[in-house]
Amino acid sequence: MSIYIITPCTRIQYLQEISKTIPRECIWVIVYDSNYTDRILPYGDIILRPKNIRGSYGKPHINYALDALKLEDSDWIYVLDDDNIIHPDWYETISPLCNDGYNILSWGQLWNDDTIRLRPTEHMVFRAVDQASYMWRYGFNSVARFDEDYFGDGKFAEKLGQKSHRIDRYISYYNYLSPESMTEEEKEDFDAGVLEFLSKNDNNYAVNFNNNNLLTDQDATNLLRIEQLDYSTDNTTDLSHIKEIYLKSRKYRGGTACEVGSLGGQGTLSLCLAGLNVTSYDNDGQEGFKDKREFLCRDFNVNWIVQEGLYALNDEIKYDVVFHDSYHYDEVIPELVAFWYYKVKDKGMLIVHDVETFSHERFMFLIGNPIFERTKDAHGRELGTYYKN
Ligand SMILES: C[S@@+](CC[C@H](N)C(=O)[O-])C[C@H]1O[C@@H](n2cnc3c(N)ncnc32)[C@H](O)[C@@H]1O
Repeated sequence: MSIYIITPCTRIQYLQEISKTIPRECIWVIVYDSNYTDRILPYGDIILRPKNIRGSYGKPHINYALDALKLEDSDWIYVLDDDNIIHPDWYETISPLCNDGYNILSWGQLWNDDTIRLRPTEHMVFRAVDQASYMWRYGFNSVARFDEDYFGDGKFAEKLGQKSHRIDRYISYYNYLSPESMTEEEKEDFDAGVLEFLSKNDNNYAVNFNNNNLLTDQDATNLLRIEQLDYSTDNTTDLSHIKEIYLKSRKYRGGTACEVGSLGGQGTLSLCLAGLNVTSYDNDGQEGFKDKREFLCRDFNVNWIVQEGLYALNDEIKYDVVFHDSYHYDEVIPELVAFWYYKVKDKGMLIVHDVETFSHERFMFLIGNPIFERTKDAHGRELGTYYKN
């Protein structure tokens, strides 16, 4: 079994940067466009220079490689554009799964500022996946080829004709080396567009969304409500992170959440909307917010506790989700560690705001280096999510 990374190439200026990210264990195939007649750069394990293969968004190049390479049924194919890189966690995540009988592996995708572009999904449908967010085992459909147009990626994913094995991690980027100059709003529009497309074009998704990471109409409504909240207070968690908390918490619908640091209630509301029964601690250090948050979450039965977060350690209750956002810097580490061990259920998750303010390495060490993700908002504040088991 070999893993082939195929890169159609017209933009040779990125090859050096890309080469640094290609795992040594993979076979990197560069297919030069026929319009490119200059020298070949010393990158790639296999270099293909077909005649009359040009343009069409690299699709004929991929087809050419699929025809030209001596591929085995057990080999895996991953297409990497010539302006993208391999995510540092990609190889170690996918390689243990390549001999497990799966036909397609898929995962989530990030913009190059590490914000989420595509959530992990097992649905191989146009717009829900990108070329870089899946790979397929050649032998399970060795005749499938790309349509030679811009939307060829998504259509090819559909041609593969079955669900993928979904990896719940964000291990690909989108156009990492030549990011489109999208504003945060445009990114959110993209996100909304994907959701709308999915929910309008296939009624099955409305049903299926709840069982996976795709979104229902109800989610779209909830996200819209979250978007319309007031984020102008300095200490309020950023909209992008409040949405992330909502999206990550949905899978615990019907379960429980504990929030530490309620302030205006934006985080509380996102947890409530995600379907969790919320207990929220705030010592009311920032006066005037108690009424605001209680009003904001008036439709839900939140257990508001006016106490320091540490007070939660007095009982033995554990939660599916703990969102910690009270005080920061290294002095918060002991409290976070205590919450991790005593307040997060076995399959639960801890979400921590402002993780850039403390020694992350030390924190990770103290909680036993679980699987985690870090995302950054537009102001550089980071949200960490730590998964138990
Ligand atoms: C950054 S704000 C929380 C923002 C909020 N999570 C949101 O969704 O926008 C911090 C809040 O933590 C509260 N706080 C500070 N120290 C605390 C402590 N030791 N225990 C509980 N709450 C605390 C403050 O009163 C303030 O309301």
